[in-house]
Formats: sequence, C-alpha cells, structure tokens
Amino acid sequence: MNNKKITVGCDHAGFGLKKIVITHLEERGFEVLDVGTHSTDSCDYPKIAHELCKSIQNGTTELGILICGTGIGMSMAANKHRGIRAAACSDTFSARLTRVHNDANVLCFGERVVGVGLALDLVDAFIDAEFEGGKHQRRVDMITQIEASESSL
Ligand code: RB5
Repeated sequence: MNNKKITVGCDHAGFGLKKIVITHLEERGFEVLDVGTHSTDSCDYPKIAHELCKSIQNGTTELGILICGTGIGMSMAANKHRGIRAAACSDTFSARLTRVHNDANVLCFGERVVGVGLALDLVDAFIDAEFEGGKHQRRVDMITQIEASESSL
C-alpha cells in the first residue's frame, strides 16, 4: 500500500479496540483519520460507517477499518455506499484474501468477537496485502456493474 493514510471508525461497542488499532497503525507509520465515535456512549453505527465511506469516496484515504460489536452491522452499512467493498473478517486468511481477490477497501471486525492480538493481525493482514487484478478485476467490475444498475432502478 503506497498511501500511508487510513480512516478508522467505531461505534460504542468497538471504542476500546479502535484506540488500540489507531496506536498500532501510528506505530506502523500510518496517518490515521479518526471518524469517531469518541466515547462508549451509545451511538448508531451506520452514521460512523457513512463518515468513513465518504473519506474513501472523496479520495482522502484508500482504505478504512470499522469496528463495532460484531463487525457485521458496519459492513452492511458500508456496503450500501458506491465504490465501497467492505468485508467483515475474523480470520487473517479472509482479511488478506479480501484485499487480494475482492479489492476490499474496508475491513470490519467486532470487538465482541476478536481479541486484541487477532484484531491487530487482521489489520496487518489487510493493509499488507495487495489486489492481484487479472481475473479478479473482471469480477470486481461485475460487482460495480451491479451497483450501477441497482442505483438506476
Ligand atoms: C451495538 O450493541 C451492536 O449492535 C453493534 O455494535 C454491532 O455489533 C452491530 O452490528
């Protein structure tokens, strides 16, 4: 990954892990854009997912990380955004392959699902992997076509 800038967001259920993830990313030399939330007060994860997706859509960052209780709500909300390919992962194989094969640009996971060690391994697997292109590009293009046709219905 050339761009050493990454957006990170969480809801109240992911707040503790988000702080650890940000420290880890900064130690690895990344500039982190933190779109909140900033406390454990209850909040709505789709709003945070929306803020993070905007930062990718407007070109501020290429990749994002979203943390909630399970990672699932965040991924559902993120995947409603044009050009966003979000993957909820709780194993490093999937976190790596979703970059290599799916050109995923958002990694989601759950603080109630993964521990700190695995969370940081997920982050590293995701950001250190590169999209392979080739036949995988054709398939990603098909996802984009579905997205375009759906939005014109
Ligand atoms: C919040 O309780 C929880 O529903 C949320 O963090 C997330 O897990 C949703 O998918």
